[in-house]
Amino acid sequence: MVSTEHRNTDVEGVEGVEGVEGGVGLTALLVAAARAIETHRHDSLARDVYAEHFVLAAPASADWPVRIQQVPDGDANPLWGRFARYFGLRTRVLDDFLLRSTHAGACQVVLLGAGLDTRAYRLDWPPGCVIFEIDREDVLEFKHKVLDGLSAAPKAARVPVPTDLRADWVGALTDAGFDMAAPSVWLAEGLLFYLPHAVERHLMDTVDRLSTGGSALAYEVKLEKDLLKYRDSPLYTSTQHQIGIDLLNLFDGEPRPDSVGDLEGKGWSTSVHTPFDFTRRHGRGPLPEQNDALEGNRWVFANKPREGGTRLAGKAPVAVATLAAPTPIQAPPAAADEAI
Ligand SMILES: C[S@@+](CC[C@H](N)C(=O)[O-])C[C@H]1O[C@@H](n2cnc3c(N)ncnc32)[C@H](O)[C@@H]1O
Repeated sequence: MVSTEHRNTDVEGVEGVEGVEGGVGLTALLVAAARAIETHRHDSLARDVYAEHFVLAAPASADWPVRIQQVPDGDANPLWGRFARYFGLRTRVLDDFLLRSTHAGACQVVLLGAGLDTRAYRLDWPPGCVIFEIDREDVLEFKHKVLDGLSAAPKAARVPVPTDLRADWVGALTDAGFDMAAPSVWLAEGLLFYLPHAVERHLMDTVDRLSTGGSALAYEVKLEKDLLKYRDSPLYTSTQHQIGIDLLNLFDGEPRPDSVGDLEGKGWSTSVHTPFDFTRRHGRGPLPEQNDALEGNRWVFANKPREGGTRLAGKAPVAVATLAAPTPIQAPPAAADEAI
């Protein structure tokens, strides 16, 4: 087990407030609100009909907007305009990645820090897939309460794994039925920024250890060496002023490990992209701006070669098409290791 002592590992949240209502749990509601807004856009990149129900069910977020029309300055609002669109794009890109990976045979999906992710309910998974959702117990309890109230039915076998990623989550996952011998696809969406260096390293080592050939992984990192450089950026200040979430205080301030290098060293192929690559691909989403808190954000896609398979030398090729035409919401299946 790794030591996780750090001032920003506020998994209990604001003092006296736990679960989805406080600290890093509240960020799950922020992402849900962004997905709700994206869902109601005429040109939405991803649709999540459950997202607004989470937002409205939690006292902490009940008065947040769930449609862009409820935001007085609309798309000019840095939080509910640009930042929300960022989450919409991220959701879509990772939906596509997970569907591609499962169609290529990695049918165990592990959502690390799943929060209010409803992919188990939203996406058309290939037959036989199992979705494991790891998050803290109180976050998952809130999620179930809302989804049960909607009589939502998952589209694949769904296995909640209530555990803290700083504890023995491997035991919890394998006890829940995860099979190390079968290919898996892992997702750490909006998670690693909150975890200390040692926990991220341990997590990557563990994902590698539990992944047989043919497995895949996607995650998000921030490359900035000095996160505070963007303290006065529109994105961070509006998030703090409008909904009281000080993201910089929740992020772990330690230098980040070189997880891409570590994965490459273990034989994985990786490709690293800016979110803006996908904005250009889909023809909508955030673009770079001055004093941009998104400048260092990178989305990493990794594949572990099958036994006997050949690994491409160096990084997987980067081929980001610039498509003017809007792309369909549910991506057609393609090879999991297709360049993103
Ligand atoms: C920004 S939210 C993202 C949620 C989800 N991945 C999404 O994109 O909708 C971060 C999530 O990570 C979870 N999380 C943070 N630290 C964790 C830990 N140590 N163990 C388990 N979950 C954790 C939080 O509870 C929260 O649900």
